[in-house]
Amino acid sequence: VKRVFSGIQPTGIPHLGNYLGAIESWVRLQDKHSSVLYSIVDLHSITAAQDPAVLRQSILDMTAALLACGINPEKSILFQQSQVSEHTQLSWILTCMVRLPRLQHLHQWKAKTAKQKHDGTVGLLTYPVLQAADVLLYKSTHVPVGEDQVQHMELVQDLARGFNRKYGEFFPVPKSILSVCVLAFFTEASMKKVKSLRDPSAKMSKSDPDKLATVGLTDSPEQIVQKFRKAVTDFTSEVTYDPASRGGVSNMVAIHAAVTGLPVEEVVRRSAGIDTARYKLLVADAVIEKLAPIRSEIEKLKMDKGHLQKVLQAGSVKAKELAYPVCQEVKELVGFR
Ligand code: TYM
Repeated sequence: VKRVFSGIQPTGIPHLGNYLGAIESWVRLQDKHSSVLYSIVDLHSITAAQDPAVLRQSILDMTAALLACGINPEKSILFQQSQVSEHTQLSWILTCMVRLPRLQHLHQWKAKTAKQKHDGTVGLLTYPVLQAADVLLYKSTHVPVGEDQVQHMELVQDLARGFNRKYGEFFPVPKSILSVCVLAFFTEASMKKVKSLRDPSAKMSKSDPDKLATVGLTDSPEQIVQKFRKAVTDFTSEVTYDPASRGGVSNMVAIHAAVTGLPVEEVVRRSAGIDTARYKLLVADAVIEKLAPIRSEIEKLKMDKGHLQKVLQAGSVKAKELAYPVCQEVKELVGFR
């Protein structure tokens, strides 16, 4: 049997990278598979300092955003990670199976500790082990993620194999699914993620201090136009798709292709004769059109906190029902019972 699992940090309203890189394919997968879980990973989010009131709100905002994007709680289990205590229990068992250097060599740890110019917390270091627990706790077989999570998923696979070697065949080795739209349209390896609008060498990221770099799903049409107008491109006015040498314009083309559902070649063909300054506004319009229904649905859902809380609670109960027996079996295998 196939089981799909994925997670997203409660960073408030998700951005276009989250949407095109992950959430859009989550919605498709819930129609194709019978057992699908999506988790708002609040435990992961406290690896960076969080204000409790803001975090509380962000969890509900993310719930509203996922529902607005089309996640259907009748089809997939949408739940809050911290409400299922088995995540931390399995995480500890896996933590005792991984060597320190394996974690110290991961890109994200290196990048984050270098950027912050200080030593990261132990939580930031062991964050990928918690991610492994998330996936393995449900014996998941498929994990839809953006390209930035591929290295973490390799660790998850290693931990599954390591556990099976020590305790006998137990966990399926889960496969990453790179978002359907990403695979179809971003053929170049370097384009498997949505890039920052201000620096095409970096991924679009919630934590970017430059507010023009990231498009949120509830940005107003005016904000979206402003961000695309200021998007960094180059001095060639023609629209071409060449991620290696023209990162900025290629990011526009990739976003354009993803939001319109057209192949990259078609988008480029239709843009013949348009200069990049005008092209940026065209892409902005396509993004505005794609996000308009999502934006209004998020605003509507955000007003009913009680409903959002109920959805999460019901999802967490269902997730717990799946997690508990697996965790009990793990405890038996390890020798606790
Ligand atoms: P997070 O919350 O940073 O991102 C959620 C999803 O969005 C994808 N993504 C992107 N895709 C394309 N372009 C971008 N610029 C971009 N930015 C983000 C991410 O790849 C991800 O799929 N560690 C995970 C959360 C997690 C998880 C898990 C995922 C925790 N446990 C178990 C899968 C399975 C994270 O921080 O994602």
